[in-house]
Amino acid sequence: MTKLNNNLKQSVLKLTTPLSAVTIVLAIATLLVGNVKAQDNGKFKLMTLPYSTDALEPVISKKTIELHHSKHLNGYVNNLNRLIVGTKFENADLETIVKKSKGAIFNNAGQILNHNLYFTQFTSQSEGRPNGKLLKAIENTWGSFENFQKEFEKAGATVFGSGWVWLAADKKGNLKITQEANGSNPITKGLKPILGIDVWEHAYYLDYQNRRAEHLKEVWKII
Ligand SMILES: [Fe+2]
Repeated sequence: MTKLNNNLKQSVLKLTTPLSAVTIVLAIATLLVGNVKAQDNGKFKLMTLPYSTDALEPVISKKTIELHHSKHLNGYVNNLNRLIVGTKFENADLETIVKKSKGAIFNNAGQILNHNLYFTQFTSQSEGRPNGKLLKAIENTWGSFENFQKEFEKAGATVFGSGWVWLAADKKGNLKITQEANGSNPITKGLKPILGIDVWEHAYYLDYQNRRAEHLKEVWKII
């Protein structure tokens, strides 16, 4: 949670008026989503990993990160760039495309947004839990960080087929755990994504085979 906490501190420094915990959580989500922009030429680019491909071992192996980033995510980027040519989405930003498109364009745009947030949230220097306002907001909602972890892991383990589990916030700042199928993202429900774990098999199968629940338990060590 170091990265989330650092983003939180930066947000607080930039703000001149007192904020509630939930508002600060929304600021974190905005920061994360803000990392995802259409390129100047209207084409989307493969995001650069903010760490080396072996930095998350042993929780996620170098091989999994390499394939996940350079093959799977790169494939979504190339697909979207090809699919939007000549459509009303050619010059749209990624969030707009995810909110307004359907079919193949939605699937690929959603997966780019999801993965850009996913890869950005990890760190090799995790403290294992958030602190400050984010921790308080989680405790206010689930009673304790441990209860939140249990509910989050359960939601991730029970996504049927391929999809995602997210911690997200609604417009009032209430925190929620959501399950998203395939390439969907909480923004399609008017929610701000805060933390998302990919439960497509390509995210964990090389390292955990069918043991998705075990992967979800381990992943806290790199958030
Ligand atoms: Fe993925």
